[in-house]
Amino acid sequence: MRKTLPNSGADWDQLKAQMEEIGSGDMDWRNGRTGMYVFYAGDDVLKVAKEAYTMFMSENALGPMAFPSLKRMEDDVVNMGLSLLNAPEGATGNMTSGGSESIFLAVKSARDRARSRGIDTNDAEVIVPRSAHLAFDRACHYLNLKIVRIPITDEQVADVRAMEKAINDRSIMMVGSAPCYPFGLIDPIAELAATAKKHDLWFHVDACVGGYFAPFARMNGVDLPPFDLGVDGVCSLSADLHKYGYAAKGASTVLYPSEELHAHQIFDCSDWSAGRMVTPTAAGTRPGGAIAAAWAVMNYLGVEGYRKNAQTVVETRQKLQDAVSEIDGLHVHGSPQLGLIAFGSDELDIFSVYGKIFEKQWFTSITTEPPGIHLMLTPAHAPVIDDYIAVLKQAVEDVRAGDSDAKPKQVRYGG
Ligand SMILES: Cc1ncc(COP(=O)(O)O)c(C=O)c1O
Repeated sequence: MRKTLPNSGADWDQLKAQMEEIGSGDMDWRNGRTGMYVFYAGDDVLKVAKEAYTMFMSENALGPMAFPSLKRMEDDVVNMGLSLLNAPEGATGNMTSGGSESIFLAVKSARDRARSRGIDTNDAEVIVPRSAHLAFDRACHYLNLKIVRIPITDEQVADVRAMEKAINDRSIMMVGSAPCYPFGLIDPIAELAATAKKHDLWFHVDACVGGYFAPFARMNGVDLPPFDLGVDGVCSLSADLHKYGYAAKGASTVLYPSEELHAHQIFDCSDWSAGRMVTPTAAGTRPGGAIAAAWAVMNYLGVEGYRKNAQTVVETRQKLQDAVSEIDGLHVHGSPQLGLIAFGSDELDIFSVYGKIFEKQWFTSITTEPPGIHLMLTPAHAPVIDDYIAVLKQAVEDVRAGDSDAKPKQVRYGG
């Protein structure tokens, strides 16, 4: 039966208890057994995010004249992002609700620049590596563009030559990931950007996962290739604060090396009955809480806090990577350097292994091409990674012994 609005309101205490009961079936992400969806860097960080969020929860960043506080905090967040990501003088950007919105806006900017050059953009082509996030397909779908997915190399990164071969007179944009979601690998960004520039195409770096992680891993000594706004030819970059920025959900950044490129993102219209609207993002009302929480968490952690978290995560990933490499029949997909790792098997049904692990209350993700188990590691995983490795070893033994009943019917990325 359809739920109806109660006639009279209830006590908050009663509702709170009811909501706790409703949430009791959710994954307990604090215990580190969830390898996706949540980025937990400790209760202290969570407290800062929560309190900052509620302080500005009612304010609306659609109105910077009414709420200069939010404008200032957004500018600070964007500028901290630009500094970390080696942006040139004159670079700019915005906060958005998440990676998908940042990507949508970057694709829109690429399309509108093409339009401004007199190009007919109906079904114009956006060339992405096979491993690029599905947010690009959604953006292309909404913007009436055609996505062209190009197979990746044996090392599971973007194939620059193959992507260049796909360029034709319908192409307007190319994409690389830093890192890609499926394998956590950084595409050859400098080569892709140079190729895009040679053909006068827009080039976007999807650093939704790496934007607020890779700079700190690099400071800690991880030898990363160039991937950010310091790379010549990069026209836009997405970097999520609600992932490894540890901010409250609803926070990403979309960044541009110049005002000129950013100008294609802006919506400016007065063709209705209530005055001119000038807004940079896809949302109308923009939640002040998400901006405030990101501002507070960034200032709370600082470079030292982020470096410490990155160190913990990289060490945890390395530990798991070493363990997987030692388990007979398993291999890691590519050579991950950050916090994401995926692994598969040529001998065993890896989804049966996944099922066995799932039975032990571990909630992680998968890859399909090739089949694999996928984890996005955070500081919360450090204390439990040995347990995970033990569960994984047992799962492999069970499946090898013929016990594969646990194979899940369907594992999805979302929904
Ligand atoms: C590489 C990459 N890009 C984009 C996204 C989309 O981000 P969001 O879920 O915040 O929309 C994700 C999400 O995991 C991602 O991993």
